[in-house]
Amino acid sequence: MSGRLQGRHALLTGAGGGIGLAVAEAYLREGARCTIADLAGEPNAAVQALAARHDGALRYARADVARSGDVAALVASAAAAFGPVDVLFNNAAVFDMAPLLDSDEAMYERLFAVNVKGMFFTMQAVLRQMVEAGVKGAVVNLASQAGRRGEALVSHYCATKAAVISYTQSAALAMAPHGIRVNAIAPGVIDTPMWRDVDALFARYEGLAPGEKKVAVGKAVPLGYMGAPQDIAGAAVFLASAEASYITAQTLNVDGGNVMS
Ligand SMILES: NC(=O)c1ccc[n+]([C@@H]2O[C@H](COP(=O)([O-])OP(=O)(O)OC[C@H]3O[C@@H](n4cnc5c(N)ncnc54)[C@H](O)[C@@H]3O)[C@@H](O)[C@H]2O)c1
Repeated sequence: MSGRLQGRHALLTGAGGGIGLAVAEAYLREGARCTIADLAGEPNAAVQALAARHDGALRYARADVARSGDVAALVASAAAAFGPVDVLFNNAAVFDMAPLLDSDEAMYERLFAVNVKGMFFTMQAVLRQMVEAGVKGAVVNLASQAGRRGEALVSHYCATKAAVISYTQSAALAMAPHGIRVNAIAPGVIDTPMWRDVDALFARYEGLAPGEKKVAVGKAVPLGYMGAPQDIAGAAVFLASAEASYITAQTLNVDGGNVMS
């Protein structure tokens, strides 16, 4: 199937790599124009290569979602270039972990600033634009299996992702009268740049060899392997498309069977 997002404008945060970039590629394939936002001042080689394959349909913007000024400028400039946003893939996040008794205020502030504050105010800015423009759009927030269940070493990150699930439900109810759908995806373990840090941190705190945690979590998935960023793309396209027109307020597990809910 193709053309499921024909004529739509998708804004993807934290999409310079990992899951966000793979989803941008899928959205472009389905006919969307994409605004990709990330921290770097200039698009990296992978974003440039994708732009070259989709002439004129991809625009890169630098934005730190934890800064409200950046978010306002991003959402305004995206609309100025490609028209009001129809689809938000609200993806930017950071990971960190520490034993509970050692996890400090700085870690808490950093994770909540990006994963919760950044996620919420980016969503709010896009929803305001959708309501003002009369766009019956779709939001896909990135939660995690970590938001479904606490972990002894990962308390702050788990809490930020539980917040994503809750904000998704509240926003879906608030936006339902406007015909705007808000859902989330909860990935399991996906082989992205984020996992370099995750693996190194588990190695430090669980006394493992580098790479050992990554192999173990892959083997523990019921389907038997760690996901690739492209494994999130199907659900991301579906939730953004008219095929999901009667689905809102949901968090869809895309995790090879790790979580059942
Ligand atoms: N990889 C996994 O196993 C996994 C599992 C569950 C959930 N997730 C979630 O999926 C999403 C994507 O994860 P990923 O694995 O592709 O991560 P990643 O680290 O590979 O990519 C995240 C991107 O976000 C960007 N970013 C970080 N802080 C930002 C900020 N303040 N403003 C703008 N951009 C910022 C980074 O530069 C990076 O390009 C995240 O929300 C993550 O929490 C990932």
